[in-house]
Amino acid sequence: MAGLPVIEPYLARPRSVQARAEIDRIFFESSATTTFASDDARETFHDRWLGRYLAHDARHAFLAVAAPGTAEETIAGYLVGSLDDPAQAARFYDLGYFKSVAALTAQYPAQLHVNLAEAWRGQGVGGALVEAFCAHARAAGAPGVHVFTGRGMRNVRFYEAAGFRDVGAVAWNGSEIVMLGRSLS
Ligand SMILES: CC(C)(COP(=O)(O)OP(=O)(O)OC[C@H]1O[C@@H](n2cnc3c(N)ncnc32)[C@H](O)[C@@H]1OP(=O)(O)O)[C@@H](O)C(=O)NCCC(=O)NCCS
Repeated sequence: MAGLPVIEPYLARPRSVQARAEIDRIFFESSATTTFASDDARETFHDRWLGRYLAHDARHAFLAVAAPGTAEETIAGYLVGSLDDPAQAARFYDLGYFKSVAALTAQYPAQLHVNLAEAWRGQGVGGALVEAFCAHARAAGAPGVHVFTGRGMRNVRFYEAAGFRDVGAVAWNGSEIVMLGRSLS
């Protein structure tokens, strides 16, 4: 059996249609939203949580690649993120909640979204992607990093184990989402 996936910067690999298709598949398989009112709604959702990061912030993205360089090579998971304070960056103004926690995003401006293919969960691969991103963000001078997730979601334990703690909460789409922050200084 092949070993654990290797973590690589997204831009270190030749951009291939196949890799993009695998990332998209992992994105939709991992998302809580599974049905969409229209193709446009599906595209907007994809762009909001994945597409725009690969378009604008590809240099901050990482891949976990299983069996690299072999015929069995596959994408086990990905992490996309940004280092810019999202309360100040116009491209994130569609998510109004950032403004309401602007004092916190100033402290934890970097943000990330990490997802793994189902077969690769629970083996530390997500943690390795988060560590790669945090090291990268720290080296670039970011003072902290945050994620938002649903209160009580299973992944909260994952982030706590990765050094994040509960720093705030906002109401969004009729439920509460928690802001988890990790200092990088
Ligand atoms: C969350 C996720 C990135 C964690 O990566 P991982 O490599 O599986 O995590 P690790 O092996 O380092 O740590 C295990 C912890 O991850 C979390 N986790 C594992 N499988 C999970 C799943 N299917 N859904 C959500 N969280 C999961 C749990 O907190 C788990 O700890 P537990 O077993 O005590 O509950 C990965 O499981 C995943 O992609 N899950 C589904 C999508 C998701 O929730 N993405 C985050 C969006 S904010």
